[in-house]
Amino acid sequence: MTGVSFRPAETADAPTLVAIYNHYVTASSVTFDLDAWTADDMSHKIEAVTALRMPFIVAERDGDTVGYGYLSTFRDKAAYDKTMENTLYLRDDARGAGIGRSLLEELLRLGAVAGVREVIAVIANTPDAVPSIRLHEKAGFARVGEMDRVGRKFDEWLGVVMMQKSLVRD
Ligand SMILES: CC(C)(COP(=O)(O)OP(=O)(O)OC[C@H]1O[C@@H](n2cnc3c(N)ncnc32)[C@H](O)[C@@H]1OP(=O)(O)O)[C@@H](O)C(=O)NCCC(=O)NCCS
Repeated sequence: MTGVSFRPAETADAPTLVAIYNHYVTASSVTFDLDAWTADDMSHKIEAVTALRMPFIVAERDGDTVGYGYLSTFRDKAAYDKTMENTLYLRDDARGAGIGRSLLEELLRLGAVAGVREVIAVIANTPDAVPSIRLHEKAGFARVGEMDRVGRKFDEWLGVVMMQKSLVRD
C-alpha cells in the first residue's frame, strides 16, 4: 500500500469526515446511528477525543482524506479509564485496499503510547460488518462476547459482537 499517511485530525477536517461517516449512517447497519451527524457533531467529537489525550487520526492517500479513526471512552466510570473503544471509517471507495489495516495498526500504536491498556470494538453483528470483524481478528482482537437484538435499524433488530485487544503484556 503506497501513498497512505496518517496525521492528527483537526476541527477543520470535520466536514470531510462527517461526509465519510454519514454514508454509513444512511446506507448501512455498521453504525447504529439513525440520524446523520452535522459537521459540528464531528468537530465536537474531535475536540472531545483530543481533550482526552487520545488519538484521532485522519488517513490520507496522495493528499486526499480517505478515512479516520479514533479511541474514545468505553464507559464513563473512572475505573474504565485505561480502556478505550475504537472507531474507524473509510470512504466507501477507499475500502479493500489495506488502508483499514494500517489505520487500525497506527491507532493501536498511538493508543499504547497514550497509556491505553485494553481496546474494545463493538461491531454490528450484520453482514455489512463482516469486513470490520475480519479486520479486527487479523489485528489480534479476540471475540469476547455477543449481545443480541440491542439495536433496531432498517426495521430489523440487530446484535453486536464485542472484540478486545490488550496493548500490554502482564
Ligand atoms: C472495516 C474497514 C475499516 C476495513 O478497512 P479496509 O481498508 O476495507 O480493509 P483492509 O483492506 O485493510 O483489509 C483488512 C482485512 O479486513 C478483512 N476484510 C476487508 N474487506 C473485507 C471484505 N469485503 N470481506 C471480508 N473481509 C474483509 C480481511 O480480513 C482483510 O485482510 P486480508 O486482506 O489479509 O484478507 C472498512 O471496510 C470500512 O470503513 N468499513 C465501513 C465502516 C466500518 O465497518 N467501520 C468499522 C465500525 S466498527
